[in-house]
Amino acid sequence: MRHLTSLFALSNDDVREILALARDLKSRLRRGERPALLAGQVLTQVFEKPSLRTRLSFEAAMMQLGGSSIFLSRKDAGLEGREAVSDVARVIGGYSDIIALRTYAQSLIDDFARWSGKPVVNGLSDDCHPCQALADMQTIQEAFGQWSGLRLAYVGDGNNVAVSLAEACGHLGMSFAIGTPQGYELSRDFVSRVRRRFPKLELLESNDPHEAVKDADIVYTDVWTSMGQEDEKDTRQKIFSAFQVTPELMQSAARSARFMHCLPARRGQEVTDEVMDGPQSLCFPQAENRMHLAKSVLVWALG
Ligand code: CP
Ligand code: NVA
Repeated sequence: MRHLTSLFALSNDDVREILALARDLKSRLRRGERPALLAGQVLTQVFEKPSLRTRLSFEAAMMQLGGSSIFLSRKDAGLEGREAVSDVARVIGGYSDIIALRTYAQSLIDDFARWSGKPVVNGLSDDCHPCQALADMQTIQEAFGQWSGLRLAYVGDGNNVAVSLAEACGHLGMSFAIGTPQGYELSRDFVSRVRRRFPKLELLESNDPHEAVKDADIVYTDVWTSMGQEDEKDTRQKIFSAFQVTPELMQSAARSARFMHCLPARRGQEVTDEVMDGPQSLCFPQAENRMHLAKSVLVWALG
């Protein structure tokens, strides 16, 4: 069964197949084609956290492909202790062809993959955000015409989005640099796993944002406070202030560099309006590609 629980769990060929399919489905839509590849199929989405892009992109993807989707909050699904997770997963699996989840714990996604009997897609967990990173790779290919040899510099918190971007770079032959404040680096366990899994990946870690973005083709950032960390907001705002992506920081990157952000953005915190709305920004093409990528993940997983 084809699950998308993390990018570590995918082979190199899977990643390339999903991206090729996303590209093809996008160009078919541009020609006005909405092939009913998933006619009659049902996607159930179970989300423990808010979402605009992920929820909507999967719903729109399912509708355009001739299928339908159902949305359940954590409470609706009974994940607040109403019954065992394994029972919830088996019941949802009985009504659905595929399940997408947004969770705090990655283990909840893994439990659904184990118990539901249906393909499971990770729509973000505290640990990673694989669909985001895959859609970003589609955007990068459109902007640069290639992946291999490009350098992506991520500035900010060593969070779920950073993890999946590092893995995506490993799969596609890009180099990955990350600039974080001290104490907010990628976990040591993740860094050793990613180095073992992708021995050729060039990975630079720094606590200096200017050093991290030097010669980068892509400067990427995300919120300083992720969903679930709201109590740390004030502390984080102070600690991360030197890591704001400004026009000046963009100047330390390659002259042709582009700016990326998974959104939602906290304008005036991790990025200035000038960068986000400026000519280097790819934020909104990134958001649109979430839907093309969602389609390809659904088609890939459902055969
Ligand atoms: N980028 C992203 O996943 O956005 P949402 O939280 O709105 O789904
Ligand atoms: N790191 C952010 C990403 C949101 C798409 C979060 O987890 O809240």
